[in-house]
Amino acid sequence: MDVIVSLCKRRGFVFQSSEIYGGIASCWDYGPLGVELKNNVKRAWWRDNVTLRADMVGLDAAILMHPAVWKASGHLDHFTDPMVDCKACRRRFRADQLDERPWTHYCPATKGNKFAVAGGEACPHCGARRTLCPECGKGELTPPRQFNLMFKTFMGPVEEDAAVTYLRPETAQGIFVNFDNVLQSMRLKLPFGVAQIGKSFRNEITPGNFIFRTHEFEQMEIEFFVNPNDAIDGRPADEVWHERWIEERFAWYQRYGIRRENLRLREHEKAELAHYAKRTADIEYKFPIGWSELEGVANRTDFDLKQHSQASGKSLTYFDDERKSHVVPYVIEPSAGADRSVLAFLVDAYREEEVRGEKRVVLRLHPDLAPIKIAVLPLLKKRPEIVATAQDLRARLARRWTAVYDDTAAIGRLYRRQDEVGTPYCVTVDVQTVGDAEKGEAGDQRVTIRARDSMEQIRVPIEELATVFGELFDGTAWSAVAARYPAAKG
Ligand code: GAP
Repeated sequence: MDVIVSLCKRRGFVFQSSEIYGGIASCWDYGPLGVELKNNVKRAWWRDNVTLRADMVGLDAAILMHPAVWKASGHLDHFTDPMVDCKACRRRFRADQLDERPWTHYCPATKGNKFAVAGGEACPHCGARRTLCPECGKGELTPPRQFNLMFKTFMGPVEEDAAVTYLRPETAQGIFVNFDNVLQSMRLKLPFGVAQIGKSFRNEITPGNFIFRTHEFEQMEIEFFVNPNDAIDGRPADEVWHERWIEERFAWYQRYGIRRENLRLREHEKAELAHYAKRTADIEYKFPIGWSELEGVANRTDFDLKQHSQASGKSLTYFDDERKSHVVPYVIEPSAGADRSVLAFLVDAYREEEVRGEKRVVLRLHPDLAPIKIAVLPLLKKRPEIVATAQDLRARLARRWTAVYDDTAAIGRLYRRQDEVGTPYCVTVDVQTVGDAEKGEAGDQRVTIRARDSMEQIRVPIEELATVFGELFDGTAWSAVAARYPAAKG
């Protein structure tokens, strides 16, 4: 993880929030390349789940909602974690995770020597188990208290109870309360889904591990509404759609480059299921901190629509034409984190390779996700025609793809820099391209395209560049394109 955190800071992906004031714990800012990468992740998700599907529409609901939403949804009463405090060092822990973490122990059998003991294990010297604070090893812990994870705030100028509202802890509720608006305005037929991307906030007791668990994060959520009276191949439609969405979401991460062996599915045990869920399966990724949740795919049944209907007095039903009756749809919810997805894509793409005896760091990001698509590089920055041609090319390519110009180092170094941030293609303008007017030599008006992954290079006429990149970014294999052009010397 340290390698990724360091790369992210050095190359402008992610910075500590408010760093010049010493930082604020578990809050992160996306830098120039990070915002491009995150936008690309969100764009790919939206395109595949909304634009390309006939059964999905989008929504962008407000973060602040009527406080009654959170009572009806169960968040006010149930969205809590048991919390304990150390009376000595004042650190705070989740009571249910205490035995999973390593603990500090001053062992009486070895004259009070300090040891770090693995989570859940007894001291190998005295056999004692942890009772005190796992961090400082000295303080007693308070009894567990339920701690609500929602951030409370006030609407308007007076900080009184009547003005209390909450920053939403999930985007899902904005979809449920708009169910009827969306249904009526878009004249939809079941099954259909509503997708939303937006910020959510949780006052996590133990945030951390970079952008994996933060107080403020972005979710990419789908609420897919299904008629519970329908059957598909003799099975309840909600159960079949649940499986379809698990498969679809599993395939999505692989489509954008995550290796199959780094993904797995984990079923929630009965005792672990959220208060609204009939079944939940997590898609887990092998993060540097171990296998952890990347996305949850839950069958929320009709819980949310029924709750909001009861609490608001508004009917949130669907009229089933075939059965001539109103029905409350069931909901399948694939709920992904944009920030966690960014982390997984970064981790999976990161490679250290040896090239001609030197270390090359390369982010093998899918071209759709790469923050910069094309870097245009002049071989010699002292030659004005080369610089002018390269800058003109960048401006033309930038109309369709994120393209940058860089002349701040020698070409080898420039290539390495682009490899490290995952730029799939570099275009180099050299003497051969522009010729030498003083010597009466005309250039060949060809440039070199270098592919990030294979490091192969081809010479392509400038006038064909847009066509070539159009093909490459549409998914044509490099080998198929490269076969049409002469190789350039590496
Ligand atoms: N509406 C259902 C829901 O919110 P969740 O499992 O609590 O379910 C869904 O959250 C996803 O949101 C998670 O799989 C994770 O990717 C992301 N997420 C949740 N809490 C997060 C946090 N504190 N920081 C970053 N991402 C988080």
